[in-house]
Amino acid sequence: MTLSPESAAKKPASPLEQVFSLSAPDMAQVDTCIRDSLKSDVVLINQIANYIVSSGGKRLRPMLLTLCAHACGYQGRKHIPLAAIIEFIHTATLLHDDVVDESDLRRGQQSAHAVWGNAASVLVGDFLYSRSFQLMVGLESMRIMEVLADTTNTIAEGEVQQLLNMGDPEVDRQRYLQVIENKTAKLFEAACRLAAIISDQPADIENALAIYGNRLGSAFQIADDVLDYTGDSETMGKNAGDDLAEGKPTLPLIFARERCNAKERELLDSAISNGGIDDLEPILAIIRESGSLGSAMAVAKTQAVEARQAIVVLPESPWRTALEQLADYSINRDH
Ligand code: IPE
Ligand code: IPE
Ligand code: MG
Ligand code: MG
Ligand code: MG
Repeated sequence: MTLSPESAAKKPASPLEQVFSLSAPDMAQVDTCIRDSLKSDVVLINQIANYIVSSGGKRLRPMLLTLCAHACGYQGRKHIPLAAIIEFIHTATLLHDDVVDESDLRRGQQSAHAVWGNAASVLVGDFLYSRSFQLMVGLESMRIMEVLADTTNTIAEGEVQQLLNMGDPEVDRQRYLQVIENKTAKLFEAACRLAAIISDQPADIENALAIYGNRLGSAFQIADDVLDYTGDSETMGKNAGDDLAEGKPTLPLIFARERCNAKERELLDSAISNGGIDDLEPILAIIRESGSLGSAMAVAKTQAVEARQAIVVLPESPWRTALEQLADYSINRDH
């Protein structure tokens, strides 16, 4: 067999590409499950749900769930519907989030509320939430119900805590970390914990996977908050600068406020209190010059390292290696 010049020059797969190919068979089944489970007799529900589902998304949470299940030696089938359930919950929170954040770009296209309006977007988010609970009942496990009921409740708490923090320049690191723990890390935690539960793992392994998911989720959200200042809207598929626009004090801004002089602080406080991106450039300069982006990423890095450390209790396997790669990916990404 002769190699074509293209294939001869083909680079070996990157660690992330290896993770994707390892999880591809499962993810194809998760996609089928998601599409089969979306159907409704109400046309508008199908339209909006298909619109957001078909626009992509990284599917990171379901991928983590299926990889964790294999890392636990799981041989059953429940990880597929469970992964779809986790993605439904995530998608519901995005429909709600874009209304709350008034963000008009999601996954590279107009967000659902920009096309169909706030009411339709919120209501279809509710449809996805409740559909996820219907699917959960099908799994006939009180323990799974318990984890997901607690998780969705905590996400809602996190979003309300964040609402209370909006426009408040006094929000410190501790209050910020509490919000991201609740609104983001808990769902990652649940995805990984549930993999241990369906695999009948002992408590120490379940806790290790829960910690892995939790730390990865926090790292992922901190990276998201940094990208909101540094990222490119086209690459991210969502607008940069949305956090400052709504006066949301995230970690880069919190670090900058701790380090700046009185005059700069006045500017930051007024931007947080009033929202808007009129002063984005000078604020970005303060954030950059104070080293706040690097410091925020250092916090994310610490969490990603903790995630990796948590899973050393799992037996060595390609699945565990993939989980380690995803912990790194959570902070080394451009979208
Ligand atoms: C966006 O999550 C919401 C955050 C927690 C930052 P993702 O970045 O996983 O969104 P999709 O699913 O890939 O679009
Ligand atoms: C994550 O926060 C929201 C949820 C957990 C629902 P963001 O509001 O920062 O998410 P993006 O940036 O809009 O995706
Ligand atoms: Mg948002
Ligand atoms: Mg938000
Ligand atoms: Mg964001």
